Amino acid sequence: MRTLVLNGPNLGRLGSREPSIYGATTYADLVALCERTGRELGLDVEVRQTDHEGEMLGWLHEAADAGVPVVLNAAAWTHYSVAVRDACSQLTGPLLEVHISNVHKREDFRSHSYLSEIATGVIVGLGVRGYTLALRWIAEEHSAEA
Ligand code: DQA
Repeated sequence: MRTLVLNGPNLGRLGSREPSIYGATTYADLVALCERTGRELGLDVEVRQTDHEGEMLGWLHEAADAGVPVVLNAAAWTHYSVAVRDACSQLTGPLLEVHISNVHKREDFRSHSYLSEIATGVIVGLGVRGYTLALRWIAEEHSAEA
């Protein structure tokens, strides 16, 4: 099953970006981890990252039209983008919101997500393993439906 893993702003800088918060895993490592996990789980995983909101909206529209599951780390957009939320509301497959850090242990403004109330589920604070856990849920859910 095709699955999109979409990453928002600054996540391309994983590895060098605030490693005490986000860890040492680079973005390239994250892509490889998601692709490897996808192969193990029988999912056709495509991982993308953008710093441009319009590009993210286009990918969400594509996912809505294709009906595919989305694992989304919307990064900072999580906390203020009604446009990203409105695009997520159009999704027809499951939406798993992932954050590498525990946003509830950080600044107050990170505790609010525009996405959580429309997401199927939310994984925060488990590092990049949050992505693999989200992919596992999608694979298990899909096989339960089949
Ligand atoms: C993040 C948390 C956000 O608050 C932050 O803006 C990010 C990354 C995370 O993965 O922990 O860029 O989504």
